[in-house]
Amino acid sequence: MTSSNLILTNVTKRFGGLTAVDDLSFTVKAGQIYGIIGPNGAGKTTVFNCITGIHPCEEGSIHWNGEDITRLPPHKVAERGIVRTFQTIRLFEQMSVAENIMSGRHIKSKQGWWNGIFPTPSSRADEESNWDVVAELLHFFDLEAYAVKPVGALAYGIQRRVEMARALATEPSLLILDEPAAGLNENETQELIDTIYRIRQRGVTILLIEHDMDLVMEVTEYLTVINFGKKIAEGTPDIVQADPAVIEAYLGSDDDDF
Ligand SMILES: Nc1ncnc2c1ncn2[C@@H]1O[C@H](COP(=O)(O)OP(=O)(O)OP(=O)(O)O)[C@@H](O)[C@H]1O
Ligand SMILES: [Mg+2]
Repeated sequence: MTSSNLILTNVTKRFGGLTAVDDLSFTVKAGQIYGIIGPNGAGKTTVFNCITGIHPCEEGSIHWNGEDITRLPPHKVAERGIVRTFQTIRLFEQMSVAENIMSGRHIKSKQGWWNGIFPTPSSRADEESNWDVVAELLHFFDLEAYAVKPVGALAYGIQRRVEMARALATEPSLLILDEPAAGLNENETQELIDTIYRIRQRGVTILLIEHDMDLVMEVTEYLTVINFGKKIAEGTPDIVQADPAVIEAYLGSDDDDF
């Protein structure tokens, strides 16, 4: 278990003259619920883009389970068990809830496209077990009533659950959530807190960005706070919340969520 860490070491990411992530280091331990917080534009999503290979960093390194994943493309990062959701929901709107979750299975599938036309016993067995996983996730996220509905027609809070279900369909060991409570009402946020705990019980480590401080204070065990791409504090939520540098960063921004 101890090797199952995500370690960022001196990660720097620039966009032209802008340093979006600046010499950032932190370690997420296996089984943790770890939070990244900071004012708008602090560089939080960019950190996730560096980890998942969408925007590889220019300097520094990212290690996962002892392997250097700094330069891996997104599909290779996903194959290693790191999967994410996005700040803005990205689902196949015309497809049903079940089909969207099924799309998360593709990364696991060893079958080629030709198996759809010429099914073999092994491809049939794979397909069956994939649908078993989808059924279990529909149940886990309380989505059974929406299984055949097109995702685009569903309420925002339900779409958020579909996104998490699709991510879990890849059987990740690290789930990265970019503002999972954004747009949720108070009840839905409470449900999300419960869901995050239940996901962790499945043996999944969780790294999340969140502006909703009730959620952050309740679920995260450890936090890194960034501002202008730099780490300004880290620690348990109660320690971080009382840190003058953190209070100053939030007071100095137009971000009134903290
Ligand atoms: N692809 C990009 N090209 C150029 N600049 C970018 C790109 N992505 C992010 N940035 C810039 O990098 C900085 C950090 O952005 P990022 O999206 O990581 O912030 P954030 O902390 O996630 O903010 P928010 O809380 O608003 O989601 C911002 O100044 C942003 O404009
Ligand atoms: Mg962001």
